[in-house]
Amino acid sequence: MNTTTIERLLDVRDLTVEIETRRGTAVVVDGIDLYVNKGETLGVVGESGCGKSLTMLSLMRLLPNKIKVARGTAHFDGRDLQTMSNADLRKVRGGDIGFVFQDPMTSLNPVMRVGDQICEPLIYHRKMSKADARLRAVELLRLVGIPGPEERLMAYPHELSGGMRQRVMIAIGLACNPKLLIADEPTTALDVTIQAQIVDLVKELRAKLGMSVVWITHDLALIAGLVDRVAVLYAGTVVEVAPVDELYARPSHPYTRGLLASIPKLSDPPASRLSSIGGTPPEPGRRAKGCPFAPRCPLVETICHERVPKLEPLAGAANHRAACFVVQKMQEAA
Ligand SMILES: Nc1ncnc2c1ncn2[C@@H]1O[C@H](COP(=O)(O)OP(=O)(O)O)[C@@H](O)[C@H]1O
Ligand SMILES: [Mg+2]
Repeated sequence: MNTTTIERLLDVRDLTVEIETRRGTAVVVDGIDLYVNKGETLGVVGESGCGKSLTMLSLMRLLPNKIKVARGTAHFDGRDLQTMSNADLRKVRGGDIGFVFQDPMTSLNPVMRVGDQICEPLIYHRKMSKADARLRAVELLRLVGIPGPEERLMAYPHELSGGMRQRVMIAIGLACNPKLLIADEPTTALDVTIQAQIVDLVKELRAKLGMSVVWITHDLALIAGLVDRVAVLYAGTVVEVAPVDELYARPSHPYTRGLLASIPKLSDPPASRLSSIGGTPPEPGRRAKGCPFAPRCPLVETICHERVPKLEPLAGAANHRAACFVVQKMQEAA
């Protein structure tokens, strides 16, 4: 093994996920390569329907019925999550990998007290006694900023506000001091003030615990100060990946540029329309031949309808890659 592989906590290669539909098999995640280094935070962005959640669920082998991994590997700490036994995977899931699901209303158990839901992974993964798990649960609720944690342990999810439930989900994700936290749009349902609080909380915990984070979102602006690198997903493929500052300074793929242009700036007049990308992502199984973004792309050329562009490094930045023929051509001309 060379040093770069040792540094990699999560290393996903050629991950391909298919869904069975009445019209046949459709690819929803199309040969994704991703990695997360130890201590690093990766942002995964893209519009709704781009395959962000299915990518992460497939890592944990939690895909819904009729959706399955067709190809690819996903190494966590040197072991392939796709081929390890169910028993081994259960030890990783909720233990060394903490997961915060997209929707706290459906992922918290409505008939189980919040305290018991936090204690469960501690008793299962860390073999704590009930009493120790309870103490740790109080500590975790305090850590995620829930006031009166002792009383909250006794609450049922419906007795908490949306923001508090989301914090409970994060507490569960963090319970076992994971090496990797995967958070799938953990703040989407919340108002902006609470979103910012939760981002700050994760930053603080990351520094304290030294964990790696994958933060999935459709909101590039929210994660600007949180992540080290960003992978931009479109139609189940990575179309651009770069260190966060580099991505903001030099967004290259027309899709990324569109996403950034739809972030309103303070300098915009209050009533100005958001300049966003026209159209919607293709449905699985209805993708045109060639670049999946071609039908919506303002820079589209003939070749884009014919071939699928590969992720290629940009000139002068080995860790900034984009999958776009037009970008590649402009680089060659420069
Ligand atoms: N349970 C499901 N059944 C059928 N199609 C699904 C299911 N889950 C996701 N999909 C489809 O797969 C694609 C990717 O979904 P998803 O990973 O949830 O996207 P994202 O998280 O980026 O919004 C979408 O087109 C979505 O409609
Ligand atoms: Mg999702």
